[in-house]
Amino acid sequence: MKKLCLLGLFVSLASHQVLAATTPVPLENKDAFINNLMKQMTLDEKIGQLRLISIGPEMPRERIRKEIAEGNIGGTFNSITRAENRPMQDAAMRSRLKIPMFFAYDVIHGHRTIFPIPLALASSWDMDAIGRSGRVAAKEAAADSLDITFAPMVDISRDPRWGRSSEGFGEDTYLTSRIAKVMVKAYQGATPSAADSIMASVKHFALYGAVEGGRDYNTVDMSPVKMYQDYLPPYRAAIDAGAGGVMVALNSINGIPATADTWLMNDLLRRDWGFKGLAVSDHGAIFELIKHGVARDGREAAKLAIKAGIDMSMNDTLYGKELPGLLKSGEIEQKHIDNAVREVLAAKYDMGLFKDPYLRIGKAEDDPADTYAESRLHRAEARDVARRSLVLLKNQNETLPLKKTAKVALVGPLAKAPIDMMGSWAAAGRPEQSVTLFDGMSALMGDKTNLIYARGANITGDKKVLDYLNFLNFDAPEVVDDPRPANVLIDEAVKAAKEADVVVAAVGESRGMSHESSSRTELNIPETQRELIRALKATGKPLVLVLMNGRPLTILEENQSADAILETWFSGTEGGNAIADVLFGDYNPSGKLPVTFPRSVGQIPTYYNHLSIGRPFTPGKPGNYTSQYFDDTTGPLFPFGYGLSYTDFSLSDMALSSTTLNTTGKLDASVTVKNTGKRDGETVVQLYIQDVTGSMIRPVKELKNFQKIMLKAGEQKVVHFTITEDDLKFYNTQLKYAAEPGKFNVQIGLDSQSVKQQSFELL
Ligand code: BGC
Repeated sequence: MKKLCLLGLFVSLASHQVLAATTPVPLENKDAFINNLMKQMTLDEKIGQLRLISIGPEMPRERIRKEIAEGNIGGTFNSITRAENRPMQDAAMRSRLKIPMFFAYDVIHGHRTIFPIPLALASSWDMDAIGRSGRVAAKEAAADSLDITFAPMVDISRDPRWGRSSEGFGEDTYLTSRIAKVMVKAYQGATPSAADSIMASVKHFALYGAVEGGRDYNTVDMSPVKMYQDYLPPYRAAIDAGAGGVMVALNSINGIPATADTWLMNDLLRRDWGFKGLAVSDHGAIFELIKHGVARDGREAAKLAIKAGIDMSMNDTLYGKELPGLLKSGEIEQKHIDNAVREVLAAKYDMGLFKDPYLRIGKAEDDPADTYAESRLHRAEARDVARRSLVLLKNQNETLPLKKTAKVALVGPLAKAPIDMMGSWAAAGRPEQSVTLFDGMSALMGDKTNLIYARGANITGDKKVLDYLNFLNFDAPEVVDDPRPANVLIDEAVKAAKEADVVVAAVGESRGMSHESSSRTELNIPETQRELIRALKATGKPLVLVLMNGRPLTILEENQSADAILETWFSGTEGGNAIADVLFGDYNPSGKLPVTFPRSVGQIPTYYNHLSIGRPFTPGKPGNYTSQYFDDTTGPLFPFGYGLSYTDFSLSDMALSSTTLNTTGKLDASVTVKNTGKRDGETVVQLYIQDVTGSMIRPVKELKNFQKIMLKAGEQKVVHFTITEDDLKFYNTQLKYAAEPGKFNVQIGLDSQSVKQQSFELL
């Protein structure tokens, strides 16, 4: 899926004064090396380093190379092969100071092998698997000459109307922070200067997931406590894990666009958090300062951004055009430009590019003959990670797993949808190489004639929606309708269902529905598909829904009609195989929701760790004057942390090593988890803590730890969690991060709702 390029390539710069070369400084001394290089740079060359351009197929390569050789471009994104990038690096080596270029790309959930979308990765709660997905992505990207990715995306989102929910790791601060760290380490490996590592740039700094009403690019208005407590920690975790870069968010925060926010970029990020890496604007964001209404014109926009500490400007030309004049007039100081240049050069240094500009480009004779070669994929890894990310939401009468000998009707517009299987931001993934559900199921079924396929419905019957989804992609329409009338499609599916023992319906969203700029007002499965589900239900055959979607959907009705529901998100290149593994029981599902599933759009925002209130709704005691919607059941359809298995697990009461904790001490909270069913299986044991009384209102519970464990049928294990004062700290109204003495509830469960509880006192 390609994006619009706001491209103005050719900037003429004013100052051409060439500075004399100084004595070379050994490469080993980073600061001295960079200082020395900067002494030799002209103003034009410095400003050239701040320019990051997108390379589209339509772009004149020769002119780009000329500009690079003149020192006018610091890095590119979207050019993704060694053969494409080598001539650009050659051009940089012809430039006066031979400063290497870097090559960036959105490697979000895989590069050539596509792994499940980030929301799905989070559903695995499996840090090892998530790390493996990131490492494979880094290796594949580095092998294609890429030096840096705009990832991980760690924006907490509590509003599934936002299409980019799919790109993040869900609603929870703790889970997302853990994953942020794992992803940074996975991309960067032991060091971002290794040939098989890429630098991570965490995004979108900050709070992008909290845009008003889930409307993309919108405003964020948030209290400092909520920011510090809930939304900022994942970015911080990525930075503490060593992320070399930060991408700045497109939204505003409390009235100031992030791209112009000196508090955010300088006080918080650099001063308080000690970030020393590269800050990149998002696509065209400096120009957008005019639209936000904080800059009169391009000149003021450039001034605000450079002063805020935006080092590189992504795809706009304002730095090149305006910085020389701003400097001359004294509106900005040399240090503003120098700080930015220093950070760009330092990032290139950290990527290992001064040592070897061709570190990841390699030699032409070693280029892959076919960049799409099967041998370059990591299918086994993708299949393994994908099956761990699937969440079983319902399984009445043990409808699942299916027998491999059963006669199955496979229906739905997503059953044979290789593009959708990859999800959005599928980097260099190829639909031809992705395994559809049909492919995956037929590979596992002995007698292929037992799989009867019928499309049953188009993704949507709404022409406007269809046009919108197809507008997002320039190459070819992504969502292609079956031209037959809806009733004909349904009749065919019903006929298939009647011939089968069981119906599997692959339904949900096309991938473009959960993407950038894809906010929705409704979270239903589109009506065409709901009609299909109703017709299938009417056949009386056992009905399994395989959901494909990039955000929680409102599936109240479908939850009633289906016998089993498997949430598969968009599960990547090996998605079809992974889903088939679960449907036929070759893998016992172990995923848990990293987001709450609301019952309706009207309930949004709904998230598990909301603040305590004075008049909470008490389940089982409906009545007036408590916090509830009177026209629907209170509470989510599926809570955070929820997910079933083909086996059953029981939890003993919790043992707490003491009922008091002092500030230097430790508490042990443990439960015995038993696999009481007939199959081996994994589950996620989750630890929640509630600070019962504080100097300010605290959440009803917060995830503080978890362990994914494997238990053989009949096996039991004692799972221990250590609790220290650190787990009890929070940002108070003065933004002081400290724990307060008093009562705490500890809860352990296999989801956020059904838990065992004990209490202790922090002394
Ligand atoms: C998105 C970023 C992305 C960038 C470059 C922007 O539109 O907001 O997440 O990294 O494009 O592709």
